[in-house]
Amino acid sequence: MCGIVGYVGNKNATDILIEGLEKLEYRGYDSAGVAVLKEKNIELRKYKGRLSVLKENLQKDKIEGNLGIGHTRWATHGEPSDINSHPHMNSGSAIAVVHNGIIENYLTLREELINKGYEFLSETDTEVIPHLIDYYYTGDIVETVKIVVSKLEGSYALGIIDKNNPDTIIAVRKDSPLIIGIGEGENFIASDIPAILKYTRKVYILEDGEIAVITRNNIDIMKTDGTRVKKGIYDVNWNLEAAEKGGYDHFMLKEIYEQPKAIKDTISPRYKDGSINIGEFDLSKEYIDSVNKIYIVACGTAYHAGLLGKMFIEKYAKIPVVVDVASEFRYGSPFIDENTLMIVVSQSGETADTLAALRLAKERGAKVMAVTNVVGSSISRESDYVFYTWAGPEIAVASTKAYTTQLVSLALIGIDMALKKGTIEETEAHKILEEIRKLPSQVELVLKNVEDIKDIASHVYKSKDVFFIGRGIDYYVSMEGSLKLKEVSYTHSEAMAAGELKHGTLALIDEGIPVIALATQDKLFDKMISNIKEVKSRGAYVIAIAKENNEKIEKTVDKVIYISEAIDELTAVISVVPLQLLAYYVALNRGCDIDKPKNLAKSVTVE
Ligand code: M6R
Repeated sequence: MCGIVGYVGNKNATDILIEGLEKLEYRGYDSAGVAVLKEKNIELRKYKGRLSVLKENLQKDKIEGNLGIGHTRWATHGEPSDINSHPHMNSGSAIAVVHNGIIENYLTLREELINKGYEFLSETDTEVIPHLIDYYYTGDIVETVKIVVSKLEGSYALGIIDKNNPDTIIAVRKDSPLIIGIGEGENFIASDIPAILKYTRKVYILEDGEIAVITRNNIDIMKTDGTRVKKGIYDVNWNLEAAEKGGYDHFMLKEIYEQPKAIKDTISPRYKDGSINIGEFDLSKEYIDSVNKIYIVACGTAYHAGLLGKMFIEKYAKIPVVVDVASEFRYGSPFIDENTLMIVVSQSGETADTLAALRLAKERGAKVMAVTNVVGSSISRESDYVFYTWAGPEIAVASTKAYTTQLVSLALIGIDMALKKGTIEETEAHKILEEIRKLPSQVELVLKNVEDIKDIASHVYKSKDVFFIGRGIDYYVSMEGSLKLKEVSYTHSEAMAAGELKHGTLALIDEGIPVIALATQDKLFDKMISNIKEVKSRGAYVIAIAKENNEKIEKTVDKVIYISEAIDELTAVISVVPLQLLAYYVALNRGCDIDKPKNLAKSVTVE
């Protein structure tokens, strides 16, 4: 949530900040602003609305300067407005701050500052920071920032400039991501790599409790106690094009079409001589044998992937698995000890609730394995084992290729565990592996079938409510299909376990209501047909997703999308793709802002 960027060098800072913010807009997009040092003063421009509003205003009213910070906001404290937008400044306009995160004790700090005579302009938590810097200012901005961060509770990535130190940006983080781009005669800060990739591929990843003092020719990193930190440089090995639309109208569509490659890239490095070789880590047989339960914890789409992970691990590795949404997990009474393995699933690797669950598990002695897409993310750095989904950058707020790569990752992890535990025959494991390797081409086939899906979307987009039903794995995929539709097309939708319909929800089925019925599970097919008949006989317009050898379904439904023959456990990777496309085309028909749905942000770094 929120993107921050900073530049110091000899180019026009405003242009570079805007370019960077364009790449970070996925993190928040309800307002944007910049603060640039012009001659000896900090010039501030900030507006409610998309980045384009800021851009237009800056075109009319250019700020020339070589150092500055910028921000794109997802509101938490205070509605989106010009005043609540970042950067925030102290009353004397000497200090400007951009912030990603939440200052949890801001009300107390605000009251203390008001009692000392400080005046607040905004309703934000962030505004306490420039006033605190002003209050504690020692003449040394780095020492002052150290004092100030010791007063802050909550999460923050901060970019700070001070007109009395006109060549310096201060960056500091706790629980919100921040990287430093290393240039030649110029340096950058940003919430995420795409913001600086045009200028450099060399970055430092700032850790919690570290402060960086950045000038155009130097980067000093230290801990808040003053100890110097020597960091390794992370070389980014992907191109800016990977984070561009590449001819597609939206990132979401591009990312849906990238799935065959993303799945292949995730599987290939783990497949060696007909067998699994996880590569990054080796879970020993002894360790796997000692694990008596697994928690899979995640949010949103990643949680839906976790449900499939449970199915794989329980079926093949015979270890009990509990799957929970991260925002609930900590508030229950989870049984965690040193024989527990927690698997956290997170595209961004920065989701605050997931990170908090990970930390709780570690505190209680469990080992944590991350399935994540972002190298160097907080979750990847704090986990004991990391399994990367090599999906490439996912920019659209709606997660698509991250989900399918999470599914194949969890399948590989489950089979690896089962082989080590000896709960699966090698021949069966090989058979499943061969099936996994077919998935990229099977997904490709669905993508070729897009005209049918566009046609269905042109009918569905008029509906106020849409239901998704399925049994077993199909139910989990229904949940994901329903989330996708809600998220990008603002259509009310529910996913139901098909057998549960008659326990209440069937009352909502009326003439013409679209019901998307997933019927890909061989062993549940006949039962699914009965459930489809239940909705059909109440007037529903039924669109089925079925395997290609099950044409008899055509007699019971209005439309069918066929997917390739695949083993039941793996159908999710294929059957979700028509649902992603359906959500996309319904949203397109409804004129929605597909890549940046209202009220949402890509990386949810607040709890
Ligand atoms: O980065 P994460 O995978 O941890 O994000 C979790 C959810 O916020 C995310 O999957 C969200 O539900 C997506 N916008 C759904 O498309």
